[in-house]
Amino acid sequence: MNGSHSDHHMRKRPVVGLVFGTRPEAIKMAPVIYELQKRSDEIQPVLISTSQHRQMLDQVLQVFGITPDMDLNLMTHNQSLNGITCRVLQATDAALESTQLDCLMIQGDTTTAFAAALAAFYRKIPVAHVEAGLRSRDIYNPYPEEVNRRLAGVVTRLHFAPTAIARDNLLAEGIGQEKIAVTGNTVVDAVKTLMEMKAIDHPLPEGIPDDGSRIILITSHRRESWGAELENICGAIADLVQSFADVRVIYPVHMNPNVRDTVMSKLNNMERVHLIPPMDYFGFLSLLRRCYLVLTDSGGVQEEAPTFHKPVLVLRKVTERPEASLMGLARIIGTSREAIVSEAAELLSDPLAYRAMSEGDNPYGDGRASERIVDGLVRWFHGERPVLEDWKQFHGAARAAEQIEVLT
Ligand code: UD1
Ligand code: UDP
Repeated sequence: MNGSHSDHHMRKRPVVGLVFGTRPEAIKMAPVIYELQKRSDEIQPVLISTSQHRQMLDQVLQVFGITPDMDLNLMTHNQSLNGITCRVLQATDAALESTQLDCLMIQGDTTTAFAAALAAFYRKIPVAHVEAGLRSRDIYNPYPEEVNRRLAGVVTRLHFAPTAIARDNLLAEGIGQEKIAVTGNTVVDAVKTLMEMKAIDHPLPEGIPDDGSRIILITSHRRESWGAELENICGAIADLVQSFADVRVIYPVHMNPNVRDTVMSKLNNMERVHLIPPMDYFGFLSLLRRCYLVLTDSGGVQEEAPTFHKPVLVLRKVTERPEASLMGLARIIGTSREAIVSEAAELLSDPLAYRAMSEGDNPYGDGRASERIVDGLVRWFHGERPVLEDWKQFHGAARAAEQIEVLT
């Protein structure tokens, strides 16, 4: 009795660093942080923010009430990919030097995720990757995220794949099954967490009349669309408000100057087109709940929309998140002005087409991903397989993927 008591006190809790730097990483790490806080007797978390984003990150941290233990404060104006990569690598290395981590957890496909993973690898600190295994198989779409995610995967010991398709991508790359757990995407947990904190029913952003118009919510910021393609997207928005008098477009514009400059020059002062600053997560989810249709090239927004049963037109040529389109809840439509207008017009005019895309469960997760991830970590520290049981809900879509392969 006495012995086990003192063993308990002598056993050191594993110390796990969680690194994040951009808006989507913070949103998707927040529920994992909450879960770790609940289980702090088993694992000691250390929160490391690179602050690759400043304002858009702080907006998220404030909503979730999270204060990083270390803030590397790396954002500079209009930063280059190589510039931010070097700064993350160097500053994370210093952070790893001053902490004694047993594992570093990264999320997703950003520069922060990839460069921090590399820094940990060079120090032989095991990496755990949340949202592992998504693949578009095109290194320039999304750019540079497809490559960031693959490179991070190479140095990862523990892969938390959100879906069965993501797991299969990892298996196909020769990663051992015992290193992979299928967990669902933590973004579904993030939405659920917020819904439990507060009703998602903010009024429309200030200055936008609530006159019963149908709202198209749009976000677009991908690097591969900068320039002509983003101009096409803006052109399509202009066409849509002209053709549909009962439509308002709300576009919270990303702070990246390469996005802002194009969008402001093409759409500023257009009637029923509302360009607004990035919204806080409560406000954004309220709008997602309230809108009629979503046009987006964002990863996270594709994954959240099915929770609110909103059809998504994906403004990309390919997606590494095929689940919603396999389930008929999203369409990958590219960035041509004509395609965007005709696809959106169909959903604005044809109630049956609209209904077909707005029914069904969210194929990305069930709201319990963070629990599975923390369980997986604890089991892994005990030398066991990361999960007892993979998340199974998704197998319907996995079958759909197989059928599509047979047909083509
Ligand atoms: C980054 C990620 C992208 C992710 C996106 C989410 C990389 C390479 N890109 O893209 O994968 O989808 O975040 O939003 O990791 N800025 C601000 N304030 C902010 C945020 C950005 O002023 O809060 C401006 C700055 O001028 C900054 C620039 O935007 O230099 C670009 O930020 P950066 O993180 O490098 O790239 P993103 O295009 O935002
Ligand atoms: N989001 C937000 N405010 C906004 C726009 C988006 O809080 O004005 C949230 C959105 O709900 C999603 C995440 O930000 O969870 C997506 O981030 P982003 O599109 O910047 O990055 P991506 O997911 O494409 O990497």
